[in-house]
Amino acid sequence: MARARVAIASDHAGFAQKQQLAAWLAEKGYPVTDFGAEDGATSVDYPDYAQLVARAVAKGQAELGVLVCGTGIGMAIAANKLPGIRAANITDPAFAVLAREHNDANVVTLSGRLVDFDTNKRIMESFLNTDFAAGRHSERLAKIAQLEQ
Ligand code: RB5
Repeated sequence: MARARVAIASDHAGFAQKQQLAAWLAEKGYPVTDFGAEDGATSVDYPDYAQLVARAVAKGQAELGVLVCGTGIGMAIAANKLPGIRAANITDPAFAVLAREHNDANVVTLSGRLVDFDTNKRIMESFLNTDFAAGRHSERLAKIAQLEQ
């Protein structure tokens, strides 16, 4: 997924790492759109930010979404409510590879509280550098898409 357009957002709990990840992605040359939050001190609701990124990805305004909250779990649950979104909550780089190869995940959700920045950066590298393997996995994704009907 070289130079994919990236939509990123967080709640207050993910704010610090969202800032770091957005800067790191931009440094690497990825076009990044930041949908907030604006600070880490104001308590906000993660579904509000998950939907902004999920809608941008679903509309094709970005190829990849990145969502950071305390655990990444709430962001994944919320983002996966939108048709066309395959969000994976990832805490280890090996899972990032499989989420791309097998599941063609288009949104990665990360933990800002329980996973350190270096690990989240390695997760992002794996996610960005791994292509969907297609083949038998495509048929399974088609079945997931049917569940949205
Ligand atoms: C906020 O306290 C926390 O619940 C949120 O960031 C996230 O971890 C939810 O899944």
